[in-house]
Amino acid sequence: MDVFKIEGGHSLSGTVEAGGAKNAALPIFAATLLTGGVCRINGVPDLSDIRFMAKILRYLGARVDQVGPHTWEIEAQEVHHCAPYDLVRQMRASICLLGPVVGRLRRTEVSLPGGCVIGPRPIDLHLKGLSRLGCKVDVRNGYVEVDGSGLCGDYLYLGGRHGSTVTGSANMIMAAVLAPGTTRIESVACEPEVVDLCQMLVKMGAKIHGIGSHYLKIEGVKELHGCEHTVVPDRIEAGTLLLAGAITKSSVTVQNVIPGHMRALLDAMESSGVPFECKPDQRQISVFETRATLKPVEIITLPHPGFPTDLQAQMLALMAVTPGLSFITERVYPNRFMHVPELLRMGAHVSMEGASAVVNGVNRLNGAPVMASDLRASAALVLAGLAAEGTTWIQRIYHLDRGYEELESKLNLLGASVERLPQDALPSDLIEDS
Ligand code: EPU
Repeated sequence: MDVFKIEGGHSLSGTVEAGGAKNAALPIFAATLLTGGVCRINGVPDLSDIRFMAKILRYLGARVDQVGPHTWEIEAQEVHHCAPYDLVRQMRASICLLGPVVGRLRRTEVSLPGGCVIGPRPIDLHLKGLSRLGCKVDVRNGYVEVDGSGLCGDYLYLGGRHGSTVTGSANMIMAAVLAPGTTRIESVACEPEVVDLCQMLVKMGAKIHGIGSHYLKIEGVKELHGCEHTVVPDRIEAGTLLLAGAITKSSVTVQNVIPGHMRALLDAMESSGVPFECKPDQRQISVFETRATLKPVEIITLPHPGFPTDLQAQMLALMAVTPGLSFITERVYPNRFMHVPELLRMGAHVSMEGASAVVNGVNRLNGAPVMASDLRASAALVLAGLAAEGTTWIQRIYHLDRGYEELESKLNLLGASVERLPQDALPSDLIEDS
């Protein structure tokens, strides 16, 4: 297990590039099971979650080859129906195999993925949706068993307590594209990653109308074919890099971004007084050095186009060093505040009121030993470390490696001091008791 050692207080400057979106690439990999043709996927980030997905697809019988640094070829001439616990428990996103395997084979058994540190992550909407599409769905011995012999198009409503579901929408879309008849899905997620999946499916021969809206009409086709597709840029990685610029009050340009996917973050940055410029034609956003004191903000996380929950922790880190009271409310994952106790160790003033964090910004954080608990919480701790006085040690950064390709290299290129070291480089008083 590696750790990060961050020397805070460096100002950043320069240009970095965001990669392809993990949360688009994962369902896109799963979608390749819908055809026996060859799918060539470009812009795939080099991440441990992607390698997990490749491993599962190989287990299910597909040929999965990485043919370039960010290009993969997948050919699933044959597909097995069962994804076992041992593989699935390593990554929650493996639940998005349900839809394509049912579409292709008319049956599947996928293990339930198990607990998650960011809070309960039920899949009732996935199961309800498959039932509406004519499948018999059973949860037995920790597995979702689906008999899809009756799969056929129908109307389904996918809204839940917390809005639409991203991987649930991906599953329903992937099952519906090969279901006989017409499927109408209302309250479908319209995150850019879901849109990207639909665009890839259309290249494969699917008939999907209303892409990008909350209402999709899908006319089932008999079969799909291989295609070539480039994964949409990662708006969360790009947002994290822009917030790295904002928290260090530096000038940073991020390339390979689609500003239209990032309106809620840009709006929050504008309210806070972070100077920035978008160049949509050049797929680029810059934040600029400023001496001005930033202003606190009120943020509520919501499904797209609302403020993304995947940037909540990073925005909270920025507000932790923004004098005044900020209010940050989680509407997607009400318990996703594991970064707060760690930020308190760095001198942040944050109190929790239910699913809201009240952040009383301080002038400066202090470096401290902290523990990463999940992917985005880790990113928030990195940002806090960049802005803090002194040294921050972050343990369990394997969480970060699930979703950020070489974050430390990108930050160091901008002038940060982030070292990846083996666990035994930790000062002895910081080593965890086993
Ligand atoms: N929900 C239900 N029932 C369901 C499904 C979801 O109640 O059947 C609830 C969830 O508990 C949550 C809300 O609906 O409160 C949204 O969950 P959603 O299903 O949209 O989340 P997901 O598809 O499991 C994806 C991303 C997450 C991201 C969320 C929200 C992938 C692989 N994961 O998860 O990404 O936070 O959408 O945008 O796409 C991350 O990248 O760090 C990450 C956690």
